[in-house]
Amino acid sequence: MTEHQGVSLDWMTGEGEELRPPADLRPEIPHPARMYDYYLGGKDNFPADREAAEKVMALSPLVRISALANRAFLQRAVRHLAHQGIKQFLDIGTGIPTAGNTHETAQQVHPDARVAYLDNDPIVLVHSRALLAGASQGRATVAQADLRDPEAILDSPEVRKVLDLGQPVALLLFAVLHFIDEADDPYGIVRRLVDALPSGSYLALSHGTADFISPEEAGKGPAIYRNATAQLTMRTREQVLRFFDGLELEEPGLVTAPLWRPDQALQDTDAETGIWAGVARKP
Ligand SMILES: C[S@@+](CC[C@H](N)C(=O)[O-])C[C@H]1O[C@@H](n2cnc3c(N)ncnc32)[C@H](O)[C@@H]1O
Repeated sequence: MTEHQGVSLDWMTGEGEELRPPADLRPEIPHPARMYDYYLGGKDNFPADREAAEKVMALSPLVRISALANRAFLQRAVRHLAHQGIKQFLDIGTGIPTAGNTHETAQQVHPDARVAYLDNDPIVLVHSRALLAGASQGRATVAQADLRDPEAILDSPEVRKVLDLGQPVALLLFAVLHFIDEADDPYGIVRRLVDALPSGSYLALSHGTADFISPEEAGKGPAIYRNATAQLTMRTREQVLRFFDGLELEEPGLVTAPLWRPDQALQDTDAETGIWAGVARKP
């Protein structure tokens, strides 16, 4: 077993792969990607991630429910987009691979669907490379990139290698924009990316919200993330709706994640799950 600070790192390697040095993984600092992995019941996390995630989950049972609902929305949205004829996906803020990743879901509909995965957390890259090695036959790539630098994303050779930005692309921003605060101009970032894509492209996004909890509770989540590698900025439905300016929202519009084209019976809590979710087409 390979260990770092007493924690097994065997999960970081793909079959037959050498372990990459964990120097930039900073296991002592909570990472949102690994906290999210813990919410989803994954094992790719360190004690600092679990401790921070447990504190967030103690605030409300809806935290884990929201994470699972977000992941299920991702899969329904990607399937829907594939059925609209979309074969190219730009998935930013990818997260640690888990069941039903974008390329797996899209390739069930179009075996030749192509996906560029981008995330700014090095741990995501380590995992994704292991997952993609051999599995995607060049139709999926993963690269380190920061959503706050849309120009670098659009110019990225990694992205250009798998995506033709002259053809319709689905831009996927699932549970990542709440890590971009106002000072970094999240609306300008989304506009820049959407502007670079041709008509017939789509924007699919989900975003954490405090719309259904008290202002006192709402302040606690971001406070816990303050020690993590990315800060949390919850937004109201109205603020999330602004990301879709100039685009045509698909039915049923911007709703909580479980309410977006559900494929199973709804639960009582679904209308108040803390994730807004929507998919829109660029006219
Ligand atoms: C909650 S996870 C979401 C994972 C996946 N998109 C999903 O919805 O299941 C958020 C991801 O966004 C990434 N992230 C946070 N800030 C980012 C940034 N500025 N640029 C790129 N990725 C970022 C984190 O590293 C993490 O992997």
